[in-house]
Order: sequence, then C-alpha cells, then structure tokens
Amino acid sequence: MDVLRIRGGQPLKGTIRASGAKNACLPIFAATLLTEETCVIENVPDLSDVRFMARILEAMGAEVERPEPNTWKITAKEVATRAPYDLVRKMRASVCLLGPLVGRMKSAEVSLPGGCVIGQRPIDLHLKGLSKLHCDVDVRNGYVFVDAKAAHGGHVFLGGRHGSTVTGTANIVMAAVLTPGITRIDSAACEPEVVDLCKMLISMGAKIDGVGSHALTIEGVEALRGTTYRVINDRIEAGTYLLAAAMMESDVRVEGAEAEHMSALLDKLEEAGLDYTIEAVDAIRVRGQRCNLKPVDVITLPHPGYATDLQAQMSTLMSVTPGLSIITERIYPNRFMHVPELQRMGADIAIEGPSAIVKGRKQPLSGAPVMASDLRASAALVIAGLAAEGETWVQRIYHLDRGYEKMEEKFKGLGAEIDRIDDADMPRDDETMA
Ligand code: EPU
Repeated sequence: MDVLRIRGGQPLKGTIRASGAKNACLPIFAATLLTEETCVIENVPDLSDVRFMARILEAMGAEVERPEPNTWKITAKEVATRAPYDLVRKMRASVCLLGPLVGRMKSAEVSLPGGCVIGQRPIDLHLKGLSKLHCDVDVRNGYVFVDAKAAHGGHVFLGGRHGSTVTGTANIVMAAVLTPGITRIDSAACEPEVVDLCKMLISMGAKIDGVGSHALTIEGVEALRGTTYRVINDRIEAGTYLLAAAMMESDVRVEGAEAEHMSALLDKLEEAGLDYTIEAVDAIRVRGQRCNLKPVDVITLPHPGYATDLQAQMSTLMSVTPGLSIITERIYPNRFMHVPELQRMGADIAIEGPSAIVKGRKQPLSGAPVMASDLRASAALVIAGLAAEGETWVQRIYHLDRGYEKMEEKFKGLGAEIDRIDDADMPRDDETMA
C-alpha cells in the first residue's frame, strides 16, 4: 500500500491547478444512462471513484471509452435495472443510479449502500422523493425496489434535519426529466455540482427551471439526446490548496478556483486576515505568512454556506493560528476523525458534541506517522504535514486517491517535499524519524 512521506516546512511558490469536480462528475456519469445516444464528458478528474463509476456503468450494459486521459465517452444502448450490493457498497455515490434507472427504465433495483465512516447517511429523502413521483418504492433484503410504470410529476420537499440533500436532489431531478408531467422540488440542494448536473441534463434536452435555486420545476420529456459536456472545476480541491497556502510561507496561484463557488470559504479567509487576490474568474492568488492569521469560528452548512468537505482542512489551519476557534459541523455531526491524528502532531483540539474547539498554537505542528480515515481527513493530514516541522507519513492514502488527482505531484510543483512510497519502506518504530 502507498503512503505519503512529507518533509514539512518548505515554502510553497508557483501555480497549482484544481481538476474537474469529482462530486459533479459522478452523478453526470450516472446521467449518461438517461439516453441511448453517446455522451462525451470532458474535464473528468483521473480518480479511483471516477474509474469505479465507469466500471459500474459498464457492468450495467454501457459502452465506456476513454479517448483522452480526462475525456470519457459513454453510450448506454442497453441498461440493466439492477445495481448489485458488490458494486454499490464500495462507493456511496453509486446510489445516484436510482434516478436514471427510474427515469429511463421505469424500474430499479439498487442495493442500499451501507455504513459510512463520516456518519449516518440515510437515503430516506431520496425514497420519499420517488414516492412523491407516484413510484411504488419498497425496501427489502438490502435493496430498494422501484416500480415507476405509473410515475408522473408531483410535488417533492427534499429538506431534512441537516438541510437539503445533494445526491437526493440529483436522483429526483434525473428521475423527473423523463417522467411525464410537471415535478416541483422544494428545498432542492443548490450546490454547484447539482447546478452542473442540471446544465448537463438541459444540454441533453431536459426542461428544468430554477437551476441554482432551492425550487426546481421539471417538465418531463419523452427522450433525451447525447451531449458533449465539460464538468466544472473542483471547488473543494481548490479550497484545499488555498487553505494549504494559508498555513505557511507561500505565494501560490490556484487555478480552477471559481470564487463564485467558494464565497463562504473566501469570507472566512478574509475574516482571518489572509492576503488573497481574485486574479481571474477561475484563479485566486494567496500570499501566506505563517502565524499571521486570526482565529475564526466556522459552521458547516449546505451551499452557499461553508462546505463540510472543507471542514477538516480548516480545522488544520486553525490548529496553527494562535487563539481560540470553534468549528461546528452541522452536516455530519461526527465528522472529526482527523482530530486524533492532528493531536498526534501536536494540535490542541477538543470535541464537544458537533463542535471542535481548537486552541491554535504559535509553533508549527510536529511531523508524525498518521492514518487517513476518509477523503477529506486525508487532505487535512497532508496539509498538516506540509506545514509541520520534520517528517510526516500519511498512511491509507487510497482515501486521498478517491478525490484528489495526483495531489503529491501538484504540491511538488510548488516546491513541497512530498513523495509517494511503498509502506514497506516506512521506518519502523526502532528506526530514527527525522
Ligand atoms: N440526509 C438525510 N436523508 C437523506 C439524505 C441525506 O438525512 O435521504 C442527510 C445526511 O445524513 C447528511 C445531510 O443530509 O447529514 C446531507 O447529505 P447529502 O445527501 O447532501 O450528502 P450526499 O449527497 O450523500 C454529497 C457529497 C459529499 C458531501 C455532501 C454534503 C457526493 C458524491 N458526495 O453527499 O461529499 O459531503 O454531499 O455536501 O456528491 C466528499 O466528497 O468527501 C463527500 C463526502
């Protein structure tokens, strides 16, 4: 298994580019099942989750080609209606096959995804939404069975205890675009990735009004056509690079960073006193100076609020920003698996219910072997390692590879000392760690 070895403390200088957005790409890949014509998807990040989604589509009958490293061509002439447990359990996002199967095939058997390390992730809102489209929905033997032969438009409210649901909205939109009649979704998620999916569907001939708002109106059409569509850039990846640059001596231009998609993060960085400039619609430059920031309190919320997928990285920044900050998680109240690992590097963080109370220190964190537990926790540990004194070894980086394309090469381009090596080459406890 690979690990990342990081020798921290190097200043970061130069340009780094965010790839296409994983969380836009996965439902967009699923949406290719809505037509028998070919869809060409561009700006696709080279990630294990994306490759896995392509394998699922193949297993369900689609022809999948990759003419260029970041372009995929998908043609789904035939589509199976069953997505088995073996595939779905490995990647939660495969639950967004439900909508396209209901829309096109009028029938779906999709395995329930099972547990998730970042907290409870039910799909009750997805199922409620399909019922409101007059589908017959049944859950048994670990599967969701949907009979949509009599489906027609309806009024769906998708708000839950933690706000609206991103993949739930994607599912209901994908079901509704080929369901006769008018569907209205209230409390729809308005994350840029949902907007991107809607734009892709519109380019296929779908009729969707209110894109980008919490109220979507969809008029079902009989069939959709193929499309060529370019996925948006990854705001979470770009945000991770901005937060990394904020932690140390740096002069970094982050490209593929649309300020329009990141206002909550930029607002917090401004409040913290970070020197940054929006240089283009998709480029932000940061000039970081270690310890020059003020602590800020952050609450994660659905878009346009502060993204939960940037919470762990912000906790890392706050752990080296002198003073007290409170980071509250409203989307996944237990999403703090990075905290014990950051503590091993010297961070002073206490968890109180859904909040992390961070006492930022003046001196840098100190390098240590740490264990990644999920995608964003891994990113937080990498940026902690970049800013730390000494060597950090981040283990289980297959989590990182699910959502960040060649992160170590990108940071290397900024002057970081970071290498991917085999864990057999890690020093053992009785060897000296620098
Ligand atoms: N929820 C329900 N019932 C539902 C669906 C969701 O109660 O039927 C709750 C969830 O438990 C959670 C909240 O609502 O507390 C939000 O969940 P949502 O459905 O919006 O999350 P998701 O669609 O499963 C996507 C991203 C996540 C990201 C969340 C929140 C993808 C593939 N995943 O998940 O990304 O954290 O939205 O923005 O788009 C990541 O990339 O690291 C990641 C976890």
